[in-house]
Amino acid sequence: MCGIVGCILKDKKAAPILLECVTKLEYRGYDSVGIATPDSEIHIKKDQGKIKDVNKKIGLSNLPGDMGIAHVRWATHGIPTKENSHPHTDCSGNIAVVHNGIIENYKEIKDALIEEGHVFKSETDTEVIPHLIEKFMAQGLDLESAIRDTLDMIHGSYAIAAMAAAEPGKIVGAKKDSPLIVGKGIDEYFVASDAPAILNHTNNIIYLEDGEMVILERSGVTVKNMLGEVIKKEIHVLDWTPEMAEKGGFDHFMIKEIHEQGESVRNTLMEAADIEKVVNELPDIERISFVACGTSYHASLIGKYLFESLMGVPTDVILASEFKYSAPALNDKTLVIFISQSGETADTLKALRLAKESAETLAIVNVLGSAATREAHHVIFTRAGPEIGVAATKTYVSQLTCIYILVSYMSNRMDLLEELHKVPQYMEDILADEDHIKEIASRYKDSQDFFFIGRGFSYPTALEGALKLKEITYIHGEGYAAGELKHGPLALIDDGVPVVAVVPPGISHDKTLSNVEEVRARGARVIGLGSHEDKLLKSEADDVIGINESVNELISPISYIVPLQLLSYYISVEKGIDPDKPKNLAKCVTVE
Ligand code: M6R
Repeated sequence: MCGIVGCILKDKKAAPILLECVTKLEYRGYDSVGIATPDSEIHIKKDQGKIKDVNKKIGLSNLPGDMGIAHVRWATHGIPTKENSHPHTDCSGNIAVVHNGIIENYKEIKDALIEEGHVFKSETDTEVIPHLIEKFMAQGLDLESAIRDTLDMIHGSYAIAAMAAAEPGKIVGAKKDSPLIVGKGIDEYFVASDAPAILNHTNNIIYLEDGEMVILERSGVTVKNMLGEVIKKEIHVLDWTPEMAEKGGFDHFMIKEIHEQGESVRNTLMEAADIEKVVNELPDIERISFVACGTSYHASLIGKYLFESLMGVPTDVILASEFKYSAPALNDKTLVIFISQSGETADTLKALRLAKESAETLAIVNVLGSAATREAHHVIFTRAGPEIGVAATKTYVSQLTCIYILVSYMSNRMDLLEELHKVPQYMEDILADEDHIKEIASRYKDSQDFFFIGRGFSYPTALEGALKLKEITYIHGEGYAAGELKHGPLALIDDGVPVVAVVPPGISHDKTLSNVEEVRARGARVIGLGSHEDKLLKSEADDVIGINESVNELISPISYIVPLQLLSYYISVEKGIDPDKPKNLAKCVTVE
């Protein structure tokens, strides 16, 4: 996930305003930044690092001209370096492009362009865009048509803004599966990844749809479809304040990131081909060990259930901090999979270094260039984009998506891969029920203890639900395998104790419902998560959060965690806690 901005202003220097706007998009990426402005040629300032550091070093706003484009990067292809920072240019440096998204077929396009004599300066997928535009403009097309032909050739997701020295006073934007909005001020025009980025300048916003292009000129903005036909678009007048900018209109990063989970799953699914490649590189494996901490540990538990039930491969899951005390006997037929959002967690890195001495290692990581990605034998990237809230949400669902893709390829279960494509829609349906979950949260917010129960694939979901609750509401929450309650914890169930039961359709359904009956008989208040159509659950639970009936047990962990994240988030807000910065915790734990 990256942030892009473009503007054409009147009687004002563009670079300081582009810098201000792109700073509001820093939540979308913060490893590199760059600005390009044209006069007779295109001037670019860019480097890797946080915006304020890069600005201090090279003076980003010190560029001429009253128009330009800017970018803040979250590296996906190519580690954060000056060369990989956007804007990217063609061979001549006369065409500049900023891009948010992933171009899946960039390698083949790049190879073909190199054959034709194009010289690439970066390792990014994005750089193929200015080179393709250059190629088509050299054939006589104008910028707009050259971009249209370029977009015809690329697969994947994009929001772009592009300009060419040969066509002064013009910026062309386009989108597919990545956000792009247009701002229409008085004689001043903008494109941006989101509206809050430009709210200081205009609140008249046009939302572009996939397959639409916008042409900003000094005379105004025109929206067209991919056939070049003009489209009439509604202008929305927003009543947001500029202060809401960094959080995209949400109150906290956590809720924004919960809402971004569909996009994270979609982006991670675009990794499928790279994951297949990793699978093909792996030696014969007889055993798998997952190693991780916290939320990443819970994702690993789902991995165990998947590998054992679908492939029969013995799989264990070890807390990274326990690895040196309880590591299984490793050999070259063991694959040790390290899962880490940050790729910098000290416990996980220590375990990785130990495991590497005798086994094949694979790291599943969200941050490109992080230590785990440099040290493991194989790497898979989750494509969640930057996660700012301390509580892991969208990185968790992306980790799960990677594990499901991995197991689909390793077990040749392409039906599972197909199922994954439906998950973003299931998530959106759950988010449509947000007010209901908020209302449940306000009724349960004063409870002292919560229990979360589930069986099979729902057991790690229960653990993760309990972790979210503890972390951001400071309420005691315990996750249990539902069948384990009667072996001890049932003694703690009294009148009014909330029990959250995760009961998707599947083989564990009836047995978990029996456990629900047991806690009900002891006075528990039950919040049930299950299919919309589950009449039995409705008759047993005090509150039910209904989920699409097609979400079966096997695929349920990626969707069923969403209501639990929302429940904790709204309890946290009700209690006046800042869910983005829970006490005593840090986003990245670099001590053992
Ligand atoms: O960066 P990592 O995934 O290695 O971090 C591991 C844990 O610290 C992390 O998952 C933590 O449990 C979450 N912040 C909980 O929401």
